[in-house]
Amino acid sequence: MSRTLIELLHEGLPAEAVLTDPDVTSAYSHDMASFCEAGVPAVVVLPRTVEQVQHVMRTTTELRVPVVPQGARTGLSGAANASEGCIVLSLVKMDRILEISPVDRIAVVEPGVVNATLSRAVGEHGLYYPPDPSSWEMCTIGGNIGTASGGLCCVKYGVTAEYVLGLDVVLADGRLMSTGRRTAKGVAGYDLTRLFVGSEGSLGIVVRAVLALRPKPPQQLVLAAEFASTKAACDAVCKIMEGGHVPSLLELMDRTTVKAVNALANMGLPETTEALLLAAFDTPGPAADLAAVGALCEAAGATQVVPAEDAAESELLLQARRLSLTALEAVKGTTMIDDVCVPRSRLADMLDGVERIGARYGLTIGVCAHAGDGNTHPTVCFDAADPDEARRARESFDEIMALGLELGGTITGEHGVGVLKKEWLAREIGPVGMEMQRAVKAAFDPHSLLNPGKLF
Ligand code: LAC
Ligand code: ZN
Repeated sequence: MSRTLIELLHEGLPAEAVLTDPDVTSAYSHDMASFCEAGVPAVVVLPRTVEQVQHVMRTTTELRVPVVPQGARTGLSGAANASEGCIVLSLVKMDRILEISPVDRIAVVEPGVVNATLSRAVGEHGLYYPPDPSSWEMCTIGGNIGTASGGLCCVKYGVTAEYVLGLDVVLADGRLMSTGRRTAKGVAGYDLTRLFVGSEGSLGIVVRAVLALRPKPPQQLVLAAEFASTKAACDAVCKIMEGGHVPSLLELMDRTTVKAVNALANMGLPETTEALLLAAFDTPGPAADLAAVGALCEAAGATQVVPAEDAAESELLLQARRLSLTALEAVKGTTMIDDVCVPRSRLADMLDGVERIGARYGLTIGVCAHAGDGNTHPTVCFDAADPDEARRARESFDEIMALGLELGGTITGEHGVGVLKKEWLAREIGPVGMEMQRAVKAAFDPHSLLNPGKLF
């Protein structure tokens, strides 16, 4: 008689690493995206070693059972959602920081390390790991790699892809592959490391990563500027970037978002403003940089420019910004969050268009944005129990992506495709691009077992 999935898994995993109680496993069925299909996993496994991951993948291939890799499930596109009867492969127990080297300016980590834990650990060595998604206190490095996460600091420091130098990956059949390097440079062969960043668990299981670090910059100071229109705020963004400034953060919150954050956390942000722009500098003398940017904001029509008094006040403003999505969720109970990134010269057109779409569909759409990157999060707030409102939410969500593509942008700057945007990938990259993407997938995953139904 053939051995069952659970029996086979137990042969290479300790008992406590194999969860089958449906009350427990159901908690692993989806990430933080609303409106994405999710199945019930057959089993959740929590390996602690590379060998255990290899055993899981050999089992997957032997029995042809799909596997869905997961980190902290803070993703926003459904990429970590279970498919029916799958193995959920949670990497959260592989959470060791294996090495921090100030000379080589690298860290070597397992995938389950939480982003903020790594940031604090390298900070003790005078080093800095920049990518900082809003969920940084919860999300894992493995998840960040799978999604190619961004964050607030990307306008100066770039996204996760820029910091992943090398990977150890367990392939679908259980073989272990090393990609990339731990050196400052390296161009040997195709860049498979970069290919894995943003592959959403569809090519292999990352079990170790070599990450680049930077020297820790001085504490950043934030300036808040209020505008009577989003267009004026976007003009200020263009002037700041055109003027050669290098802010460590350049974020926008529209009035809907500001009000939602105040309602949730009583932050005392100015509610009369149409757009609040937050700019920060982590240079040795941030006051002069902030003054120059403040003047540009005023020239663009800012009604008020207020530099934070100190680091603590700066951090409060950032907390307000990081709360945006949670706060918008509280407006009507459910959200669909877009992630359209446009050339920053088109940011004002994007925000104007979103306002028109919201008015046409009779919906509240709050916008927070990594404005310096042109990366917007128009967030459609709706009541999921109202079928007509839910339909309008989905349609407006799609129209926002169409607008982003029209403006020369991408459907996703940092959240990934997952389930939520998979109909849109082909619209962005075209049939030839899709054919090559599928060829890459087939090379790594010939039986289509790795996170099937995601991306395309
Ligand atoms: C943010 C997440 C939603 O920017 O990407 O807060
Ligand atoms: Zn974001």
